[in-house]
Amino acid sequence: MPVTCVIGTQWGDEGKGKIIDLISSRADVVVRYQGGANAGHTVKVRDQKFVFHLIPSGILHGKINVIGNGVVVDPAQLLAEIEEFSTRGVKVEGNLFVSELAHVVFPYHKAMDKLSEGRRGGARIGTTGRGIGPAYADRATRAGIRLAELFDRDHFARRVHANVAERNVIMKALYDGPPLDADAIVEEYYGYAQRLKPFVTDTVRLLRRALNSGRYVFVEGAQGVLLDVDFGTYPFVTSSNASTFGVGIGSGLPPRRLDEVMGVTKAYTTRVGEGPFPTEDLGETGEYLRKKGGEFGATTGRPRRCGWFDGVAMRFAVDLLSCDSIALTKVDVLTGLDELKICTAYRVNGEVVHDYPTNPLLSSQCEPIYETLPGWSEETRGARRFEDLPARCRQYIEAIERMIGRPIGLVSVGPDREETIYR
Ligand code: IMP
Repeated sequence: MPVTCVIGTQWGDEGKGKIIDLISSRADVVVRYQGGANAGHTVKVRDQKFVFHLIPSGILHGKINVIGNGVVVDPAQLLAEIEEFSTRGVKVEGNLFVSELAHVVFPYHKAMDKLSEGRRGGARIGTTGRGIGPAYADRATRAGIRLAELFDRDHFARRVHANVAERNVIMKALYDGPPLDADAIVEEYYGYAQRLKPFVTDTVRLLRRALNSGRYVFVEGAQGVLLDVDFGTYPFVTSSNASTFGVGIGSGLPPRRLDEVMGVTKAYTTRVGEGPFPTEDLGETGEYLRKKGGEFGATTGRPRRCGWFDGVAMRFAVDLLSCDSIALTKVDVLTGLDELKICTAYRVNGEVVHDYPTNPLLSSQCEPIYETLPGWSEETRGARRFEDLPARCRQYIEAIERMIGRPIGLVSVGPDREETIYR
């Protein structure tokens, strides 16, 4: 059976939650491999809305769900999600497995995240404040603490004390921040560990066995490729590899086993937080998209910046990810606009460029060059076949398809599972 990966091709919030939910009904195992509680996927099932931050979306389908070693886990958040889903009748215990190698997000990560953002002032990244950057930094400097370590109380207490002693000095000196109490953290997190015990395991072995016994493994990306720490708009990125390159590192799945990549792309562009966004519309259209598309962060509630479809960035993204096909989401949001613009090239320092500049100093200077297409006024939410869509809507979708050179295999015309067109 194949290993399929679903990844956002923009700056996150592409509507991956719905797509993953749809496809994970076919999978045996669903795996998350990067990010943490900075992510927020919303899945609508009839009149119920489920918001996911850490648990993979396959949980609604009774699949095996894995939180891989590359995810940074905030235990309080994870336990809250487990409880919320269980209370709403979703079977979590026995279906959710968390890597014992996953790094843990501690209060000092969240404190450092907020304090350093505050200190950056105008140069801030606009993080979610979930401690993601500091947790990954600790992983790299080897100060990180992994889930497996929480079960040996003495060992765990020693490591927390060492980290807190150091962080308190830094927080006081740099930010005049209040000190954290190491004993209280040990107490709290040891308690979390006991509750998480049934879920924590060797997920690398679990996945290897799943592959060996022919299971269909489905890999769920969080954020999007333009937020990837290596290939995104650095430093305005998240701290993990939100691209396909992170899959092996963050899950233990052998890289050569990744058979299929589906990119999830919104029919326009949004971004939360700071950083370059060439096709951003600061006027009426941006406001229209934000309101009509409900473009407010699922994790922080922040209004998302909105703008036109960026064909240049998308070509770069789908090539980098080696997407086999695209799921195009939120097409219904565009209904009612008189005309639609697609960015087909940039002007950088007076020169026309057709390739996305990965140099962030250049990507912040890109002026979009647009092709304008006529809009449509007919509602699209009832469409279930491509032919049901208004002719101008089909034209718009086909123009995107030509521009990015990938087939659009799925079109989403509303948040519900049923509001989907398979081509
Ligand atoms: P961090 O991941 O909290 O460190 O935030 C770094 C950047 O990534 C900020 O611009 C965030 O707004 C953005 N970001 C992080 N997670 C998501 C997400 O799930 N969707 C959209 N943007 C995100």
